Amino acid sequence: MNIHPLPEFDCVVANRLEIADDIVLLDLVRADGGAFPEWTPGAHIDLVLPNGIERQYSLCSTPTETARWQVAVLREAAGRGGSSYVHESVAVGTSVHVRGPLNHFAFEPAPAYLFVAGGIGITPLLPMMRAASAAGVPWTLAYAGRSEGSMAFVRELRDEHPAQVRVYASETGERLALESLFAETAAGTLVYCCGPSRLLDAAQASATANGWPAGQLHIERFEAKEAGEPVLADAFEVELELSGMTLEVPPDRSILEVVEEAGVLVLSSCREGTCGTCETPVVSGEVDHRDSVLTPEEQAENEVMMICVSRAACARLVLEL
Ligand code: FES
Repeated sequence: MNIHPLPEFDCVVANRLEIADDIVLLDLVRADGGAFPEWTPGAHIDLVLPNGIERQYSLCSTPTETARWQVAVLREAAGRGGSSYVHESVAVGTSVHVRGPLNHFAFEPAPAYLFVAGGIGITPLLPMMRAASAAGVPWTLAYAGRSEGSMAFVRELRDEHPAQVRVYASETGERLALESLFAETAAGTLVYCCGPSRLLDAAQASATANGWPAGQLHIERFEAKEAGEPVLADAFEVELELSGMTLEVPPDRSILEVVEEAGVLVLSSCREGTCGTCETPVVSGEVDHRDSVLTPEEQAENEVMMICVSRAACARLVLEL
């Protein structure tokens, strides 16, 4: 049983362009020549590479463009091999499998927006900026990176929106001071932030320091955040309501692993709590949320959980599986 069906497509790389240092832009088209579904700004896809590795990448083209999807891939020297494979082995004509789109970074209506990007974190924000421009909603972008040569789309953004885009290249000593930037941000402005963990942690701290209400800052993490020790050190039980099974989850295994071993199919991708693919409805029981996808408010609602990393904070969890 699979409760999270996502569209899947056999695709071909139709174009490949180096757009910045260590960043390639891939154009993906369906192998059967068909159209992709439309998507919403902030959405990502799972890219399943020919070597079996799968990684998540934000869509950075235009949501209504159904003939092709675009993703930008940063080569991460310290990564787990997916981005290096893309840079070294994926060329025009390479076949890849794609799953999605999925959106855990939804773009909500607002009277104004502040976008904060760190490096490759610019990718999910690009379609949001286009949507804001199309709707006539004012926006500004603070874009931080090591050097301008390492920052994708920086020239186009500055040429097209000179009054709205501010670039901070650390190589030239320009520093993005988030706390003061947030202090100058008008109430009601929604802030969308994506980039490395240290930028996102600083954004959360700055939002707190400025007394922002819940929901003003939206962040998307590409890297799993540090979750600390689990609430329960012991095993716990998981009842799968739809499958009619009760399983024990030992301390050294994830719910996802135990559920898969029992023959229940749940879609998963990152298996580290960042992509949202394994989101599972919670029927009852308290969850020890350890993911990097749900907002603190969503976690407090206790309606869904990421079973690849989140655990039980009680003896028995009941899941809609
Ligand atoms: S598989 Fe990615 S959040 Fe669980």
